[in-house]
Amino acid sequence: MKDLDRLASPGTPERELLDRLSPPSLPRHVAIIMDGNGRWARQRGFPRVEGHRAGIRAVRETVEAAARLELEVLTLYAFSTENWKRPRWEVRTLMALLKEYLAKELRTMVENNIRFRPIGRIAELEPEIQDSLAGAVSATAANTGLTFQIALNYSGRAELLDLTRTAVSNAHAGRLAVESIDEDWVAAHLATAGVRDPDLLIRTSGELRVSNFLLWQIAYTELYFTPVLWPDFTTRDLLLAVAEFARRERRYGGVVEGAQEDAEEAAE
Ligand code: FPP
Repeated sequence: MKDLDRLASPGTPERELLDRLSPPSLPRHVAIIMDGNGRWARQRGFPRVEGHRAGIRAVRETVEAAARLELEVLTLYAFSTENWKRPRWEVRTLMALLKEYLAKELRTMVENNIRFRPIGRIAELEPEIQDSLAGAVSATAANTGLTFQIALNYSGRAELLDLTRTAVSNAHAGRLAVESIDEDWVAAHLATAGVRDPDLLIRTSGELRVSNFLLWQIAYTELYFTPVLWPDFTTRDLLLAVAEFARRERRYGGVVEGAQEDAEEAAE
């Protein structure tokens, strides 16, 4: 990590956390379910949309911190296929905020070598939004640093449904042999194709659910829940989650080297 001072000033508790982390123990892909905007607004007597507006600060700070931590991928859940059920004004505000965010942050993304990638049923969004997204994708396409995925009109089930339809129609048309459908084929046809699965999934606001997010991809992901409401989420909260991840032991259904031998010896 080259940019430690900009991530956390020397002498602060955040810097202490950072100094204790070693690069091999860091997650390479962090996914976040940003929740609690509505509650944040209600606690202050504001309309819900003010919570989303305040959430933009946390988005900006988190993207910047992820780039400085040299994560490979950050995926934020910004709008689910179920979110269309929200009041029209709220949906309209969320889309307007997204457009505003892209217009304001594109330069920072380019300067910070961030590659922008929307995932979800993008073709169903308003043409104006699709244009902003396409502009950000092409302006950052050559970047080689953090891949910033933003999930819009996304749900894990919709993603798996779309992929199933592709498989069936290709198989019917004789373009795909059923035996060639394996885990690699599925991974290559997900919205996240080409990107490693999340190592760490964070959900804010104390809710203990995965809410239809990256269902295939989180099979072995470490889950981290924090009571912090999304608009209050800071670099410190990201570092706390990353530090907790670094303490976890990932086994992918196997055993940790040495642990099996220890168990066998103990049983003898
Ligand atoms: C959940 O809070 C949050 C969302 C549905 C949207 C997240 C959107 C943002 C942070 C702003 C837009 C993002 C970008 C990148 C432009 P909630 O409303 O469900 O909160 P509640 O559970 O407290 O009601």
